[in-house]
Amino acid sequence: MKILIINGPNLNLLGRREPGIYGALTFEEYLDNLRKSYPEVEIDYFQSNHEGDIVDRIHVAGYGASANIAQTSNAALAKGKCDGIILNAGAYTHTSVAIHDAIKAIKIPVIEVHISNVHQREEFRHHSYISPAASGIIVGFGIDGYRLALEGLLNK
Ligand code: DQA
Repeated sequence: MKILIINGPNLNLLGRREPGIYGALTFEEYLDNLRKSYPEVEIDYFQSNHEGDIVDRIHVAGYGASANIAQTSNAALAKGKCDGIILNAGAYTHTSVAIHDAIKAIKIPVIEVHISNVHQREEFRHHSYISPAASGIIVGFGIDGYRLALEGLLNK
């Protein structure tokens, strides 16, 4: 089983970015532990601050080489195919029709994750373009939300 975790904009700064909201752990530290806890699962990780790159990665996770992405070798694309995605789209959650459409365009399940409880925060964070396309949603459990999403995917 191969699962892809995608983190969107500003999540490369986990551990340093607003630690009162997002915690003091870097994602690399967390991912290291997660991989050790689930040795039977291949966990790929992709972080980008760029919307189109996230759309491309979703296509590759869904279709591998047949995603038909330009400027990448077919072998590299084929290796990117996955059984499910855990997606924290960061601020693109609240703006991106393109990521919504990309999720609708693939057949593998996508679990939406937010570290913070977005519903307790500013109103602009209350709407998600990802939720109507996602198979499930984990919100407000801190960084451990990624593990909860993985459990959800494994039980699906
Ligand atoms: C976030 C919540 C978003 O509103 C915010 O833009 C983020 C992180 C979260 O994990 O809580 O970047 O997705």
